[in-house]
Amino acid sequence: MTSATASRDPNRVIIFDTTLRDGEQAPGCSMNLEEKLRIAGVLEEMGVDVIEAGFPIASNGDFEAVREVGRVVKTSVVAALARTARADIDRAAEALQFAERRRIHTFISTSPVHMQHMLKMTEAEVLQRTVDYVTYARNFTDDVEWSAQDASRSDIDFLCRCVEAAITAGATTINIPDTVGYALPHEYATLFRTLIERVPNSDKAVFSAHCHNDLGLAVANSLAAIGAGVRQIECTVNGLGERAGNASMEEVVMAIRTRHDLMKVHTGIRTEHITRASRLVSTITGFQVQPNKAIVGANAFAHESGIHQDGMLKHAETYEIMTPESVGLNRSSLVMGKHSGRAAFRAKLKELGYDDLGENAVNDAFSRFKDLADRKKEIFDEDVIAIMDDEAGRKNDAIRFLALHVVAGSRGPQHAVLELEVQGKAIAPVVAFGNGPVDAVFNAIKLAFPHEARLQLYQVHAVTAGTDAQAEVTVRLEESGKTVNGQGADADTLVASARAYVHALNKLMTKRQKTAPVALSA
Ligand code: KIV
Ligand code: ZN
Repeated sequence: MTSATASRDPNRVIIFDTTLRDGEQAPGCSMNLEEKLRIAGVLEEMGVDVIEAGFPIASNGDFEAVREVGRVVKTSVVAALARTARADIDRAAEALQFAERRRIHTFISTSPVHMQHMLKMTEAEVLQRTVDYVTYARNFTDDVEWSAQDASRSDIDFLCRCVEAAITAGATTINIPDTVGYALPHEYATLFRTLIERVPNSDKAVFSAHCHNDLGLAVANSLAAIGAGVRQIECTVNGLGERAGNASMEEVVMAIRTRHDLMKVHTGIRTEHITRASRLVSTITGFQVQPNKAIVGANAFAHESGIHQDGMLKHAETYEIMTPESVGLNRSSLVMGKHSGRAAFRAKLKELGYDDLGENAVNDAFSRFKDLADRKKEIFDEDVIAIMDDEAGRKNDAIRFLALHVVAGSRGPQHAVLELEVQGKAIAPVVAFGNGPVDAVFNAIKLAFPHEARLQLYQVHAVTAGTDAQAEVTVRLEESGKTVNGQGADADTLVASARAYVHALNKLMTKRQKTAPVALSA
């Protein structure tokens, strides 16, 4: 049996990650193919059961993402989203053609407000489409999920009829989303209890919760749903998603693990991969995790007050309900210094999960590491990760950062002297002035490589503590409605800023080429 829902352990909760689909719907959060593949790789390694890789009919980018994730992912089921429509399902099936384990996830709205104003369909029409297109999807795979969009605001009798019909037509997973984040935990649990009790064939499918966080209840609702018999949770890394986001995967998984005494269920997630996944998603999207965010926030395991520190020193369980190690946070992450050699660096990369790198990639990263070690006394795991994130997927970049000199301070004029390489050719150094050093740097880039893209976000974050910490910068650029996020890391904030801007420009160029194959012009 290939389906994630087949021959199931009744206490196993399936983790369905939709970071690449619902998560990507967050405004400003666009990921390119290479980034989606990196995230999918980490999700698979951490034991995610189902990876929803995109909505293939929505764009060529989504189609490609589902196809390529399906090509490389072997153990997780790869899901593609489709409305209950023939063209959607055909496109989803085509995108899933290489996936070893594939799921078509088809949805239609069932609430009066959606049916009347969005679909302009009657209940009978929605019911008929459910039957028609679940049946149709079964021609391509035996793993079909049906979702009732806006289920939590739907009429319960109608919802029961739809669920029964979807199961009869062959749906193996029934997803009951709280699309607008409206439900309260006891109410959402009651909804599932009612469906499971009243729908005669409910035992033939796995029930799934999909919660949005508009009232801050997505995780609470997901856990309440498990208590009512749900065995699939749809969630995203860092709770990424439209508006207030989706249920956060790390919070759901760690609540299940930490409160196994009460919940009596388990997941297949290797929780030590959580921190890495969180960091990767936040670096790629530029969506910083708030410091006090549960599980993955910078302060989640920090004990500041005297009483707490005293308790922790006496016995960690006084204030710690889970260990940092259980989510992949290394207590002693001080690792390397300027005398560390290539072999030690390679071993460190392996330990951090970068074990499939080619010789050139290791050499490039090693030279960045040596350069950093000359400027910074202590090199932490976070520094190495920042270098690797900065290096990732840049080998085909058309524009490369070479050098930067900046004059800053209270006695202006602030200006930047910048050297770039464009399509393999170093261009003559350019000098630009600006309203502050960052403005000068960005003006210099515009001078060296003229473009119309508009800056939407400029964000700086220190990778570790200390004044010599590396800065990790995110730059979001927008051009003709397309947005991209670029990242850069360096001990010098201005160099990191230039790298991030150049990275974003490269991504924009690739996007431009994909939509209209025109030559790069500098
Ligand atoms: O929130 C929602 O209802 C969805 C569906 C498409 C599953 O994302
Ligand atoms: Zn959703």
